[in-house]
Amino acid sequence: MREIIAERKSKTFSESEDFDLLQTLLYTEMYKGREERIIDEIISMFLAGHKTVQLTTTNVLCYMKEYPEVGTKLQAEIDSKIRPIKDDIVGKFTKDLA
Ligand code: HEM
Repeated sequence: MREIIAERKSKTFSESEDFDLLQTLLYTEMYKGREERIIDEIISMFLAGHKTVQLTTTNVLCYMKEYPEVGTKLQAEIDSKIRPIKDDIVGKFTKDLA
């Protein structure tokens, strides 16, 4: 992690194409010169994001097996959002989103 931070620090803000969590932390006043804090935040994100997503996904899949009608409803909702994007990726739908 320290190597990644050092590499990112060696680039200017505009040189770096990645505008991500690390970039945000490096340029936030509160974290300037505080590498330990930056590392803590990144570890927190990994921990907070790991089990939550794993458990939620597992529960959703279990409920969908138990209640297939919920799965059908969910599939219909996903399709209604995805199909317009797939059929018209740069057209009206994406303009409506902007
Ligand atoms: C389905 C997935 C997730 C669920 C169900 C979930 C649920 C929660 C809940 C209930 C809280 C506490 C909110 C509160 O009481 O104030 C929370 C906080 C938090 N979650 Fe998640 N989370 C999920 C995914 C993630 C992911 C992917 C990340 C990061 C990559 C993340 C990062 C955090 C952080 C940093 C906090 C603390 C926010 C704060 O108090 O400032 N979570 N999450």
